[in-house]
Amino acid sequence: MTAIQPLNRTTFGHQENIGNVLSEGEALELLDNWVKNERLRLHMKQVAAAMKAWALEREKLSEKEAYKWWLAGLLHDADWEKYPTEHCRMIIEELEKRNIDPEVLHCIASHGPRYFGVEPETNMDKMIYAFDELSGFIHAASLIRPGGYEGMDAKSILKKLKTPSFASQVSREDIHDAIGRISTPLEDIIDFIVAKQKSVH
Ligand SMILES: [Fe+2]
Repeated sequence: MTAIQPLNRTTFGHQENIGNVLSEGEALELLDNWVKNERLRLHMKQVAAAMKAWALEREKLSEKEAYKWWLAGLLHDADWEKYPTEHCRMIIEELEKRNIDPEVLHCIASHGPRYFGVEPETNMDKMIYAFDELSGFIHAASLIRPGGYEGMDAKSILKKLKTPSFASQVSREDIHDAIGRISTPLEDIIDFIVAKQKSVH
């Protein structure tokens, strides 16, 4: 597969669009139109759930602000299936056309600094980066357990992270880089993700 192209810019959208979002219906419609793979759709919904819960519970933000975290989580990989070599650029351009809040755009643009060349700046940016790979990794772990998420603890996930052959496509380097940028330990982030994404279907 051809490598993902970096975005080659660091500002997204316009300041006058702060507060502009897609409605939940519009966001889910975009997701359904662009993403056919059920597993990928679930991944985005799981990251969205963790993002919203973090914004409300840990950042103590309003429902309105937390909705932006949810929206960024929901759409961060929306173009991955349709435009694999232009991943990130296509969804950002689509959301710019729709005059979406620049903070949401920057969050999506910085969810993989090594690939897109955009550094996470805000807490929203740093948390999507911290949740993204781990969320997929934890879900992969749930699929091989007879009880799924039931009784899953951080210890078993930490052990699997140290097993290179398990979910080898998940970049441990990105996970550790992301966790190094926040003040919450990896174990706590794992517990938080497990608690918030287990009921997302
Ligand atoms: Fe993702």
